[in-house]
Amino acid sequence: MQSSHVPHHIAIVMDGNGRWANKRFMPRIAGHKQGVESLKRCAKACDARGVRVLTVFAFSSENWKRPTEEVTGLMDLFAMALAREVQQLKADGVQLRFVGERQGLSARVLKGIEQSEADTAANTRLVLNVCFNYGGRWDIVHAAAKLAGSGQPVNEQTLSSAMSLAHVPDPDLVIRTGGELRISNFLLWQSAYSEFEFVDTLWPDFDEIALDAAIASYSSRERRFGKTSEQIKPNAPAGAEG
Ligand code: IPE
Ligand code: IPE
Ligand code: MG
Repeated sequence: MQSSHVPHHIAIVMDGNGRWANKRFMPRIAGHKQGVESLKRCAKACDARGVRVLTVFAFSSENWKRPTEEVTGLMDLFAMALAREVQQLKADGVQLRFVGERQGLSARVLKGIEQSEADTAANTRLVLNVCFNYGGRWDIVHAAAKLAGSGQPVNEQTLSSAMSLAHVPDPDLVIRTGGELRISNFLLWQSAYSEFEFVDTLWPDFDEIALDAAIASYSSRERRFGKTSEQIKPNAPAGAEG
């Protein structure tokens, strides 16, 4: 077992808002609203624990297929939450980055994205990547198209640096709330060697205790990256390094 340590980069599929609302006989959008509160709490808790990058899945390329009412509600909520929260995020040292396809977003949403990125660009405490209109396949195709147009060779390094999270290291820990055991087109490329934690807790209920449990689980694992256990243990026998 490795010594207890905090992941540098945590990525989260914030799932379960709709079920949280259904259980309370509330409209699904009420769950999404509570989801924003949960994200604020989680970002603060991550910062307090020394996490430096938090990446969250807020709206997938496929979420456009939901009923119009929910999509419109989510877009409105996103624009409102940005406008309301940006000054606090700025004061807290959070650098906001939006990751995903911007074509197809409304002028209002785009303005909120651009403004809040500009307002928080100089912050360095915590990078908060919000994946919005994002899909892992989109990310890979987008990067490949960029490379193809640039004349650069295609290899893991050039492709990585053309991807949307090139400004941060790969996630150490990927958490999915809401009980589903799937990745739903999240960070397909970047999660190649991430540790995964699937929890039943619905996203609006995901609190500091749940975060600590996920971090504790992470810190008890041995990340081998293809090597043997003997190679990565600090007091490995001579000749086993590499
Ligand atoms: C995740 O919660 C938020 C988004 C996808 C926007 P859901 O809305 O998927 O909640 P469930 O899975 O239906 O409970
Ligand atoms: C994944 O959740 C996307 C986000 C959390 C934004 P979904 O609720 O869209 O995933 P599926 O449809 O259950 O796979
Ligand atoms: Mg869901």
